[in-house]
Amino acid sequence: MAMSETAEMLQAILGAIDEGIHVVDADGFTIYYNHVAARLDGLTPEEVLGKPLLEVFPSLDRESSTLLRVIENGEPIYNQPQTYTNWKGMRVETINTTLPVRVGRRLVGAVEVAKDIRKLKELSERLLDLQAQVSKTKRTRRADSDGVSYHFEDIITQSDTMKQIKERARRAARTSSPVLIYGETGTGKELFVQSIHQASVRRGKPFIAQNCAALPASLLESLLFGTTKGSFTGADDRPGLFELADGGTLFLDELNSMPLDLQAKLLRVLQDGQIRRIGSGKSTQVDVRVIAAVNEPPQEVVKRGALRSDLYYRINVVSFEIPPLRCRTEDIGLLTRHFIDKYNHKFHMTVSGVTEEVAQLFRRYDWPGNVRELEHVIEAAMNMADEDFIGLEHLPQHVLERAQQERVVHVPVSLPTSSPADGEKRTLPEVLSEVEERMIAEALKETDGNILRAAKLLGIPRQTLQYKLSGRTMKQ
Ligand SMILES: Nc1ncnc2c1ncn2[C@@H]1O[C@H](COP(=O)(O)OP(=O)(O)OP(=O)(O)O)[C@@H](O)[C@H]1O
Ligand SMILES: [Mg+2]
Repeated sequence: MAMSETAEMLQAILGAIDEGIHVVDADGFTIYYNHVAARLDGLTPEEVLGKPLLEVFPSLDRESSTLLRVIENGEPIYNQPQTYTNWKGMRVETINTTLPVRVGRRLVGAVEVAKDIRKLKELSERLLDLQAQVSKTKRTRRADSDGVSYHFEDIITQSDTMKQIKERARRAARTSSPVLIYGETGTGKELFVQSIHQASVRRGKPFIAQNCAALPASLLESLLFGTTKGSFTGADDRPGLFELADGGTLFLDELNSMPLDLQAKLLRVLQDGQIRRIGSGKSTQVDVRVIAAVNEPPQEVVKRGALRSDLYYRINVVSFEIPPLRCRTEDIGLLTRHFIDKYNHKFHMTVSGVTEEVAQLFRRYDWPGNVRELEHVIEAAMNMADEDFIGLEHLPQHVLERAQQERVVHVPVSLPTSSPADGEKRTLPEVLSEVEERMIAEALKETDGNILRAAKLLGIPRQTLQYKLSGRTMKQ
């Protein structure tokens, strides 16, 4: 490639990236200065190019200018936070990396790359403020009334499994060991976590919930651990959630979305109760009960590498697995009643129940959104109902459609043609294999040959279906 082409390409690359770039030669004259750098400094490239640095930036000197310092001693400077007021009176906050440029052994200049962190900082500060505010109001509200939070009595169930889990959770409320809760979305994980906090001696202290999937990694870290003046993302001194939750409970939702290096830090806190704000050398002791939730089977998350196994073993000291609603159909009627009462009260209505068809559909439906979905379905239906009973016509369309699709699994396929009239006796395996074949064929027809969805309809893993299908073609 010709030299000029390379230069053109470099120009294009440097012009396109979202970081300020400033290059000076060995005498401190600017030889490259891109638009982002110009915007940060409140200047135009023409005002800077070809001029001595100290002439354009009179507030700097040989000591305070990182570019000149690098030229002076040839040592790179990494990730240096800089705060200054630019030519247009705008406050600028950047993180700079300044590197010497050498040709052979000769130092020919220095390049500085400046990352604008104002937006990131603003966002993180606003978050920290909000979180602090929320936890404060929650705390005060909780101090005079208990209305905002859930207790074990709010967990409505008549399933034996659930009753056992409730009992175990009640016991776990007596200690401060870490807890891991697993359950599909909407199964009531948060209900359990709050109930544990409320039944524990920590009840008068803060309960703080943080969803680990809601924030980018760097923000989550400063949110959890706090920041000190001048550190990377927050120039101010702020406590993190661990400090805010001191004496209380910190609920880390969707723990499997926490970045792995942060998980390592969390593990350390769980081990010694010491936290250190970002940018600080000082550790503080906190007394926080950590409860974490995941919405995938924990062992699978560990296998997938999204949850460190050392953290898993530490946090899994006490663990609960909340069954999905479709696996405790005995709760569906009870919860339906409960939500109808709730919305009767809220909407000043007098709906008495659901029709038999609806009750049947509810038992057959697979409730992918679990209890939360049931609640929403009832709320939606009560908006439509004008009679005593909620009928099929009041249910949201998507529920009806999905329930329809599921019939393939739930309505048994008619038995094979092995009527005695055939005169032919068949073994059990032969009959079973024929039923299987038919159900598979029907499921594939229903899903237009989509193996994943067909497997779901059949209630078997995709691999199993694939295996069965490949076996079948081999037989033919
Ligand atoms: N057993 C129950 N009795 C009464 N209400 C319940 C029960 N289980 C769940 N709910 C209600 O269902 C909704 C969802 O519950 P919750 O927020 O605890 O679920 P979650 O498991 O944390 O879900 P996600 O994983 O989506 O965060 C809430 O409004 C909760 O009050
Ligand atoms: Mg939740």
